Amino acid sequence: MIKNAIPLKIAGVGYSVPETVITNDDLTKLYETSDEWIYTRTGIKERRVVSGNQNAIDLGFEAAKRALDKAKLNPDEIDLIIAASSAPPDLYPAIACHIQARLGISTQVPAFDITAACTGLIYALSIARGYIASGMYKKILLVATDNNSRLVNWEDRGTSILFGDGAGAMVVTEAEDGVDDVIAIDIKSDGSLGDLIELSFDGKNCPLVEQYEPKPQGIRMNGRGVYTFVAKVLPHYVDELIKNAGMKAEDIDYLIPHQANIRIIQAVQERLGFSDDKVVTNIKYYGNTSAASIPLALAESVEKGNVKLGTTAVLCGFGAGMTWGGAIVRLREGIC
Ligand code: UT7
Repeated sequence: MIKNAIPLKIAGVGYSVPETVITNDDLTKLYETSDEWIYTRTGIKERRVVSGNQNAIDLGFEAAKRALDKAKLNPDEIDLIIAASSAPPDLYPAIACHIQARLGISTQVPAFDITAACTGLIYALSIARGYIASGMYKKILLVATDNNSRLVNWEDRGTSILFGDGAGAMVVTEAEDGVDDVIAIDIKSDGSLGDLIELSFDGKNCPLVEQYEPKPQGIRMNGRGVYTFVAKVLPHYVDELIKNAGMKAEDIDYLIPHQANIRIIQAVQERLGFSDDKVVTNIKYYGNTSAASIPLALAESVEKGNVKLGTTAVLCGFGAGMTWGGAIVRLREGIC
């Protein structure tokens, strides 16, 4: 909690997913696997993938428009844009700059990207929290988007089964009624665990200095290592986040976790003692959409009426870095 800070309002959320669906059965055309193997280990049945010229920037743009619409704000009222992506389609310009241009937002508004992998939305919200609290910016657009289908190695059945494409967005503003929608927020990282999930950028050496050695392509993941680390750390971490906020699990209406593996979600659920109707899961239909995962789960569940508004939720995520984080938020009427 930041003392004497300007409170933050979550004013609108939105999401976007590509149309093309790839089922587990479809993947059996690529390598030896089965719907049963994938579903029982991960909870995933299908995922969405971009096609043609569509990429994470397009998905992010659509999600941003919906979030702005729900927030009842015109794009030109936004005074800062932050985009979170595990791996943006362009290293530069930033996704946030692309979205600024497409929304026609003033050239005087700063726009930048952050990388915290699947924890990206929590990191972005934490940064926005600081800016709003200080009074530096008043209306911030957060966009979390990834096109993992262009990043996985489609010959690696251990990782390519997991990921999908999607985007989520959130508009946060100064809360004029004095009620802070971020009750608690915390972010963590442990760079010594960086080799658990990696994606190298294959830049070429200067040929005058040394011969070019191609690097391995696509996302490389020690799935068992990630699973073991997260299953050990995350349930306790979320529990502590709630206690440190002076709350009890019963005070929280919903758990909206990063959608990486249904068994990890269930481990957090069990720790909190939550019934199924308090836990948001859409991993079955989208797989792991990385940075987009949490805001996509939030916006879709509200839109479908699975999450009621005028409630509180704990958001939590983890990803490459390793990074992890959590936020306890108020979900006001009208955000979606
Ligand atoms: O946001 C980033 C997050 N990443 C994660 O959350 C990943 C967390 N980890 C996981 O979800 C699981 O570790 C996986 C689902 C990725 C893998 O499950 P696992 O039970 O840890 O399997 P494993 O990697 O230990 O592999 C077990 C066996 C191996 O065969 P052998 O060596 O025992 O003969 C694999 O070759 O399963 C085999 N295997 C497959 N079989 C059928 C690996 N992938 C597949 C597949 N279909 N797709």
